Amino acid sequence: MRVSINAIKEMKGKKEKIVMLTSYDYSTAKLVDEAGIPLILVGDSLGMVILGYDSTIPVTMDVMIHHTKAVVRGTKQAMVIGDMPFMTYQISTEETLRNAARFMQEGGAQAVKLEGGVTVADTVKRIIDCGIPVMGHIGLTPQSVHQFGGHKVQGKTPEAAERLLQDARALEQAGAFAVVLELVPAPLSKLITQKIGIPTIGIGAGPDCDGQVQVISDLLGLFSDFVPKHAKQYAKLAGSIKTALASYIEEVKAGKFPTAENSSTMDENLLEELARA
Ligand code: KIV
Repeated sequence: MRVSINAIKEMKGKKEKIVMLTSYDYSTAKLVDEAGIPLILVGDSLGMVILGYDSTIPVTMDVMIHHTKAVVRGTKQAMVIGDMPFMTYQISTEETLRNAARFMQEGGAQAVKLEGGVTVADTVKRIIDCGIPVMGHIGLTPQSVHQFGGHKVQGKTPEAAERLLQDARALEQAGAFAVVLELVPAPLSKLITQKIGIPTIGIGAGPDCDGQVQVISDLLGLFSDFVPKHAKQYAKLAGSIKTALASYIEEVKAGKFPTAENSSTMDENLLEELARA
């Protein structure tokens, strides 16, 4: 049985920190699942760290479903959350519900995430009414990066802070099981975490959220274009990969790879016959 939304909500009550991480492919998701991480987000951040776009905006439903399927195949325990891409939950209720359903039916996800607070609360409720758990996402919502004028910390004025609190409350009332707080000042995240009954999952939102989420490519040091301030590199895989590739090139060029161990043999007589023909 995979991790349920009830188990995640109970963790807040028990003050047990919730760990969440993104994954985009079978092999990595398998490692994340085996590590015991309960929440795996197939984030639309894949547009940047996997596909090389400069924002999440070009990511489509088909791309998200493709990666969600791979992550689901690699996991047994974790709840897999599909990130609804840009403009897939705004145009009409019908289109929104169809897209959310695709994550569950085609992708095999157990929940979806979407960006926004008060303005998407009705949408969140409609999706939940269909039996699809929803995680909210407020603060810096990357699909609106051009509206924000960059990846800036949100909620710094009294009005903006009040709006974020209202957003969090609206999502709770709509039935969201948790909410991501991205690039929110730490004291404001703490306040929101105290004021709402559902878990807050922070990214660049300080230590007092109920949980933390990171982009796996940042955490493993795989994405080398830039390292966000809120990220910590627990490994430097880009460096390890470069070293491995240099060794491979050197060994192939020097005829050191492959060896007999990496090769297969065949019947000597057959070979001789072939050579004589
Ligand atoms: O797409 C993503 O990876 C996200 C996380 C940063 C929360 O939305």
